[in-house]
Amino acid sequence: MRFTTVATYLGVIFITLILMISYTLGLLSDNLYDNEYIDMFTKANIISESVSRVWSADPLVTGESFYAPVDHSLAGTNIRGVVTNTAYTVLYDTNTDAELIGKVFMRDVLKYAAAGEQAQLMEKLDTGGKMLSVAVPVKVNDNIAGCVYLAQNITSIDTTVAATRASMAVFSVLIICLIGLLGVGISSVISAPIEQFVKAAREISKGNFSIRMEGGFLNETRQMSETFNYMCGELEHLEEQRRKFVSDASHELKTPMAGIKLICDSIVNAEHIDMDTVKDFLNDMSAEVERLTRIIERLLTLTRLDSSSDKIHPKAVDVAALIDRVTAKIMPLAREKEILLHTSGANSIIKPALWDYDKIFEAVYNITDNAVKYTPAGGYVHINLRSSNAYVEISVEDNGPGIPAGEREKIFDRFYRLDDSRSRDTGGTGLGLAIAKEVILMHNGTISVNSPEKGGSVFVIRLPYNAVREEDAV
Ligand SMILES: Nc1ncnc2c1ncn2[C@@H]1O[C@H](COP(=O)(O)OP(=O)(O)OP(=O)(O)O)[C@@H](O)[C@H]1O
Ligand SMILES: [Mg+2]
Repeated sequence: MRFTTVATYLGVIFITLILMISYTLGLLSDNLYDNEYIDMFTKANIISESVSRVWSADPLVTGESFYAPVDHSLAGTNIRGVVTNTAYTVLYDTNTDAELIGKVFMRDVLKYAAAGEQAQLMEKLDTGGKMLSVAVPVKVNDNIAGCVYLAQNITSIDTTVAATRASMAVFSVLIICLIGLLGVGISSVISAPIEQFVKAAREISKGNFSIRMEGGFLNETRQMSETFNYMCGELEHLEEQRRKFVSDASHELKTPMAGIKLICDSIVNAEHIDMDTVKDFLNDMSAEVERLTRIIERLLTLTRLDSSSDKIHPKAVDVAALIDRVTAKIMPLAREKEILLHTSGANSIIKPALWDYDKIFEAVYNITDNAVKYTPAGGYVHINLRSSNAYVEISVEDNGPGIPAGEREKIFDRFYRLDDSRSRDTGGTGLGLAIAKEVILMHNGTISVNSPEKGGSVFVIRLPYNAVREEDAV
């Protein structure tokens, strides 16, 4: 493709150059011929004037008397000058042998001159050159007394044109070579990245996200490569996340399944088993099934949040009432663990918020549930509300074990648990915070976690009162 384009350009340039050269050479030779004619006519007229003056003085003057006026005007040229009378008899000829003197010299141009007109003629010589001839009348007292005929071999003009043509041809070849080289250079600078891009896009469509483009020389192609590479990086990251998610999810599902299988095998293989033991086994199995159901439910929630079809369904939310509902739902567990669960700052809420109620409820619930779940018995969990004109801040503080600085980002990752066995014992799936973060990001909010020096952890959710972005609205 690259070379076809360059060849097309070169073809167009070649034709343009040929047309230009032919036109210029035509113009040049026309000009040279015109100049020659003008020069010869000027000389012929000067000679005609001088001859006229000689004749006025003496109408019977001999040929030699024309020597001075004619040869003087033609000095330094290779023009042949002939003076005839009206009967075309040669009176003077600059040809040194002067063989024509006294003889009739018949030329077409002389006929015109004898009739009082100026005439010019260009003849091709048998030797290959060209001959230019002009003739003008000689007037004495308004009567035509004779003619002046000048002739010149102008092969030199053709030689000049041919030399110019040759140098223009060389010049054109050089130009075409230069443009050709430039064309190939430029086209590789532009086409190479495009070809690379097409190849890379094909690789991506096959699922190979590790492909990268090289920079290129031009700013534009460099930018294109950078954007493309960035996109590949993101795709690679997403693909990696997806793979990890599938593998983690399979692993999480496998654990309760293995538990259930173990229980089943134990019952089946037991030779004598009483009803109470069977009930114990079934209770364990029920707990595993419950755990399995919980994991599947959370996975489904996450998958729904991930899919672009699940937008937020905003409605006016009474933030204080939402927090009350969360605490009411968690209160039994808090009471069981003798944890003091209390809220404050409800009066700082100035207006209803435009949120997806169910999603935000789930997010705040997950965070408060964690706080109660991971705080040892006898501790406290404090939910505090603050608000500015545009934002609501919900902080959930506890005096539990806290979260080490290095883990604060990771706990929002899917299936991530600080203490795997401890959290699993509490029935944790490691998905609660991932769901909460997803929901909060969907509402254009932020979530962060801190562990104050005095211990425990503080989760801070910051949400805009109006979480509806044009593209999220349904
Ligand atoms: N308030 C907290 N104090 C101490 N550790 C916490 C707190 N909140 C979360 N964590 C840690 O972060 C991990 C991830 O929490 P997340 O809510 O995502 O999962 P989970 O609680 O284990 O499972 P699920 O929420 O499904 O019950 C928890 O396993 C726990 O180790
Ligand atoms: Mg949790």
